[in-house]
Amino acid sequence: MKLPNKVTIKEVGPRDGLQNESQQVGTDNKTAWINRLSESGLSYIEVTSFVHPKWIPQLADAKEVLSSIKRKPGVTYAALVPNRRGLERALEGNVDEVSVFMSASETHNKKNINKTIADTLPVLKEVVQDAKAAGKSVRGYLSTVIACPHEGLIEPERVKAIAGELREMGIEELSLGETIGVAVPSQVERLLETLLPDFSEKFLAMHFHDTRGTALANVWKSLEMGITTFDSALGGLGGCPYAKGAAGNVATEDLLYMLGAAGIETGVSMDKLIEAGSYMESVLGKPMNSRQMEVYRKVEVE
Ligand code: HMG
Ligand code: MG
Repeated sequence: MKLPNKVTIKEVGPRDGLQNESQQVGTDNKTAWINRLSESGLSYIEVTSFVHPKWIPQLADAKEVLSSIKRKPGVTYAALVPNRRGLERALEGNVDEVSVFMSASETHNKKNINKTIADTLPVLKEVVQDAKAAGKSVRGYLSTVIACPHEGLIEPERVKAIAGELREMGIEELSLGETIGVAVPSQVERLLETLLPDFSEKFLAMHFHDTRGTALANVWKSLEMGITTFDSALGGLGGCPYAKGAAGNVATEDLLYMLGAAGIETGVSMDKLIEAGSYMESVLGKPMNSRQMEVYRKVEVE
């Protein structure tokens, strides 16, 4: 078994994590949290999204967050963008990288962005073109790559076809979203076996939600298959409000523990992550949902 020596962790907590928090978090708290994350050695932080504020009120302060964070050189500050209006707002906030997103499932796509898949593709194409013309790099997300809460299992060939359309638009990387956290490693293997003959390992990233505790096993399977970029959210925060039952992302600190113990380099400091996690626990007034934070809390008490 050959594992990669080095992995990139992309922190999505401030976006994916907070979009699913019902309790409104203040702009100052978001900024202070992102600044702490910037000090942890992470090279990529998805800080917010420029979606319609009525759809995701928690992230209505996207521009303020982007303009008030302290940008650390070497860190990419990215944001989710659904359409041209979102891109205009993101560019006003001087985002470093834009993430476009859509779903492999027709029903989830409609519920999430209010369009059919066929109608979404030209919208994203325009965003990718305009973002690149403005000098920004662009990442794509494809959601429900294993299963949809409404349509059930999604065929890997379907994922491959839409992934091809997104690559054609000129995105630099595609993150495969296991949106509802139902996948097991054999399904991830089948998906990647379908995609990898046509897509390079470096072009793909994996985005696992952890509803059923299988996210780390799925990460491991992906590592074995050569994937080296993983999305995660500090404290296991997150979920998609338009995918009922979806729990948080795999927790960054749990991912880091597994990678570190396996001798895989990430450049991220566990102590700094825990510090940022403790800060967010105090802001949210509840414990974070991660094994590492649990271990830390126990050690603190002893
Ligand atoms: P819509 O209502 O169909 O939009 O929403 P529209 O294009 O018909 O426009 C209606 C009005 O909204 C217009 O204003 C637009 O200007 C305005 P009016 O002319 O009526 O005054 N508008 C906007 N305003 C601000 N920012 C914008 C924007 N767009 C239009 N960007 C839309 C379509 C896509 C905007 C909406 O459905 C939306 O915001 N959806 C986002 C839902 C969301 O954020 N979901 C969670 C993120 S995805 C996710 O979590 C999955 C992921 O983590 C991967 C995984 O886990 O699988 C990425
Ligand atoms: Mg997600």
